[in-house]
Amino acid sequence: MPDEKIQKVTIPYLQAKKEKKEKIVALTAYDFPVAKIVDACGIDLILVGDSLGMVVLGYENTLPVSMEEMIHHTKPVVRAAKRALVVGDMPYFSFHLSDEESIYNASLFLKEAGAHAVKIEGASRRRLKLIEALIEAEIPVMGHVGLTPQSIRHFGQFRVKGKEADEAEKIIQDALNLEKAGVFSVILECIPLELARLVTEKLKIPTIGIGAGPYCDGQILVFHDLVGFSNGYLPKFVGKYADIHELISGAVGKYTDDVRKGKFPDDNHSYHLQPEQLQKITQKETATSGKKKK
Ligand code: KIV
Repeated sequence: MPDEKIQKVTIPYLQAKKEKKEKIVALTAYDFPVAKIVDACGIDLILVGDSLGMVVLGYENTLPVSMEEMIHHTKPVVRAAKRALVVGDMPYFSFHLSDEESIYNASLFLKEAGAHAVKIEGASRRRLKLIEALIEAEIPVMGHVGLTPQSIRHFGQFRVKGKEADEAEKIIQDALNLEKAGVFSVILECIPLELARLVTEKLKIPTIGIGAGPYCDGQILVFHDLVGFSNGYLPKFVGKYADIHELISGAVGKYTDDVRKGKFPDDNHSYHLQPEQLQKITQKETATSGKKKK
């Protein structure tokens, strides 16, 4: 339940949590009703992730997600979130051309959608320069290293990153570089827990893990995975806390059956005319059909 000490989560509040060794709780959300529920549960951060493309829009991966789609889905989340910090995920190719275009796109998350920060995948030299420019433009940035789904065409497949020493060292360096560039927090996705622990110990800013074990400063999951929206494959790291797929299938199946059998709607789900009104209508109807017959 919500932490009564604060009304609205801020970046300094999240960073203080690391110092106090209090875990940060984060989830994705892409619409008003879900954001309203998770916000009322007292989570600290809502990410409007570009996972939107896969879990809501039915794309095969996150690459087709557009700025328009991200802004459209960030707005209702912001309207719903009274307490949580809302972070908008910059979609593929919204920050890959000029710095000016990238800063403009990032600004739309804050100016138009009302988000509090943006998230950007990767830590290449050019990306770090852009992050510095965004922060200079007063746009708080969250980093994301390890498995970065927008690089799927490079990786070929989603797999655990940093299992070999070379790759692990690169992830540590990337996280340190992101911190130096000024990100307020960093997502560690799908890396061994020992590596996530090392990164978490090295950084002053909070790490938020997904598939990165228990030693991160916080955890994030895709909401639809957490509640079991899909009955398909889920990665090992997902905590499935409910089976919404079964619940919805059961409800829709029962409704279908009831409609087909004439059981729904019954009297309890119907409106009535007052008897005198019904009588008036019937009398009028009889008179009109009598006139027509003559
Ligand atoms: O898009 C997303 O949902 C994400 C999380 C997996 C961190 O980036």
